[in-house]
Amino acid sequence: PYEEKVEKLLGQMTVAEKVGQTAQFTLDVIGEGENVYSSHFPFKLDEVMLKDVLVNRKTGSILNTASNTPLTLEEWHRVVSRIQELAIETTGIPVIYGIDAIHGTTYTQKATFLPQQIGQGATFNRELVRKGAENAAYETRASNLPWNFSPVLDLGRNAAWPRIWETYGEDVFLISELGKEVVMGYQGDSRDTVGKHHVAACLKHYMGYGTPVNGKDRTPANIPLQELIEKHYEPFVRAVEAGALTVMVNSGIVNGESVHASYNLITKMLKQDLDFDGVVVTDWQDINNLYERDRIAKNDKEAIKIAFNAGIDMAMVPYDVEYTDYLLELVDEGQISMSRLDDAVRRILRLKFRLGLFENPVFDYTAYDKFASNEFKADARETAEESVTLLKNEEGLLPLSANQRFLVTGPNAHSMRTLQGGWTLSWQGEKVEQFIDNKNTFLTSVKNHSQNVVYVPGVEYNMHGAYWEEKNINISEAVKAAQNVDVILAFLGENTYTEKPGDLNDLSLSQNQQNLIKALSETGKPIVMVLNEGRPRTFADIEPMVDAVVQTYLPGTFGGEVTADILFGKTNPSGKLPYTYPKHPNSLMNYDYKPAENRTEMEGAYNYGAVQDLQYGFGHGLSYTTFEYSNLKVDKSEFSPSDLLTFSVDVTNTGERAGKESVLLFASDLYASITPDNRRLRGFEKIELQPGETKTVQMQVKASDLAFVNMDGDWVLEEGSFKVQAGSEVVMINAIKSGKWSNAFR
Ligand code: IFM
Repeated sequence: PYEEKVEKLLGQMTVAEKVGQTAQFTLDVIGEGENVYSSHFPFKLDEVMLKDVLVNRKTGSILNTASNTPLTLEEWHRVVSRIQELAIETTGIPVIYGIDAIHGTTYTQKATFLPQQIGQGATFNRELVRKGAENAAYETRASNLPWNFSPVLDLGRNAAWPRIWETYGEDVFLISELGKEVVMGYQGDSRDTVGKHHVAACLKHYMGYGTPVNGKDRTPANIPLQELIEKHYEPFVRAVEAGALTVMVNSGIVNGESVHASYNLITKMLKQDLDFDGVVVTDWQDINNLYERDRIAKNDKEAIKIAFNAGIDMAMVPYDVEYTDYLLELVDEGQISMSRLDDAVRRILRLKFRLGLFENPVFDYTAYDKFASNEFKADARETAEESVTLLKNEEGLLPLSANQRFLVTGPNAHSMRTLQGGWTLSWQGEKVEQFIDNKNTFLTSVKNHSQNVVYVPGVEYNMHGAYWEEKNINISEAVKAAQNVDVILAFLGENTYTEKPGDLNDLSLSQNQQNLIKALSETGKPIVMVLNEGRPRTFADIEPMVDAVVQTYLPGTFGGEVTADILFGKTNPSGKLPYTYPKHPNSLMNYDYKPAENRTEMEGAYNYGAVQDLQYGFGHGLSYTTFEYSNLKVDKSEFSPSDLLTFSVDVTNTGERAGKESVLLFASDLYASITPDNRRLRGFEKIELQPGETKTVQMQVKASDLAFVNMDGDWVLEEGSFKVQAGSEVVMINAIKSGKWSNAFR
């Protein structure tokens, strides 16, 4: 609907104005003070720099927050209003402001924080994810930030990778399904008129970012074309289909090619094949990386040329280079065509029209009365509650009784920061303790359930602003305190990290924390180990020493409260692991492995080496009740490529208390022309059951979703049998005709 307006505006713009639209600078550049850690409280715009960025460079976009302190809604309103005022005075075009509001809300004080994506994945609950995204969009827009760099649709398939917690886990189907929900939640009903309660989504990081070979952030990934299309591309395809307005590019190298330089991945596969008319933005300084890191450009100017000609529309933080000057020169010299520049600007203007920024460059923040409301808090709490995953519960140690005496220990026991994770009020999450309203840590929440609590941390985090290390202070004191209690509650895991600062050399849970458990286990007291971590840190040596294990991921503002409710049985846990929990750092595997990967299944002569020995499987999660599956049926046992199959299964709560269960449906192709995955998730539904109650759960699967990608990159369904499984129930189905789809949407 805006094409005429876009063309008219484009026709009136100078080349310098067009170039300016493609630039995105960080707020730090236009703030007073030296750098991100300067302490100007509160943030103040630097008028000289602001004019340089908006008037001289005619910049089209700003990102980021005031790094030193989160602002109030009113302060944000003032900052954004001034930016918009000057932008419109200069070019007539509002700035588009982007932000990482990735687990809900914004960097604004008082905002509501959901569990991070990994916890949302563990809920297996589409409705909660959609609702959380709607609330987050509302609060983000209330802060006059209309563009959210979220969701992450990368696959968390390498347990060491420091951004696992930003993903929905390792499975392509789960990621694709939740990705669609979050896009619709952020953007609302119409991608062409994103109203005042919604924001533009940004799918990231396109693509193949989540499986770096060495597990370190932004390092190369090698992914066969077949797997790239079947697993890494698919969530982006589905989210573009759901209407996503923008995409951010993977900073890394996939199969030898810097993604920011890849015409094939950006222009061909994303823009052309998916008919994507939105904006493609780089990640932070990634054009510079083509020169400085990847050495495929000989200088900054050449890097800009390569990225733009590959299909980049907007450059995030190109501040090391005279970006706008170079881009002007490149267009002037014909090294970047005017039509390529126009295409980029057209996409950016279209986005600004879609977001209504021309009519409303800023909204009145006082009109957002649901901001930080009890309703939003209750939703975030419910999501946190459904994310917590009970991994082990020997002898029914859990739930606990308020009359027991407890030792609370571990470095995560009394920290709001570790509950939240990164991208909370600041990049590394270091502002949390100071600015979060809710102070209910694990410790305070446990104390709300029982009077008999002693707290000795045993191991603590030593903070250096954004960064931290462990100090091992008082294990013996913890052991001493344990003598007089009935149960030990050990809250272990990691402190916050985001991106590269989270790189690891050893996936094992820290030695200090393992030593704490070893020492405590000598007391013979039962131990509940509560994990609060962004990725699965291995703990095989101490696992036999603990009686119960609870995974909380990074559960957000209400993580302490909901975990205590679960420990004391006020709520019944219902989360399921959205990834495979490894047992050993060198023994990583995903649940949808190729048979040859699984050394446990090999018989005989070959099985004398190390075997794959995993701690907990994908989808594992216990409850205080029990569920029984029966009667798995399908409406067509023989099917053709265009069929829709309806599966149904009865699930009964056979225990004594109400509970929620995520019903997962897996399909396995028995034989195929390339080795099939062991099994693939193809349906999930979350239900609630009273004791004794039975529900029939229906799940629909398109026959085309039983297809796989062949060596040529086409989706194919081959004739033959599939085993479909829900719980212990199995049904066999048969494809009686083959099918082939070259269109990614199938
Ligand atoms: O959106 C993020 C991205 O995920 C990592 N690099 C910085 C971007 C903007 O903050």
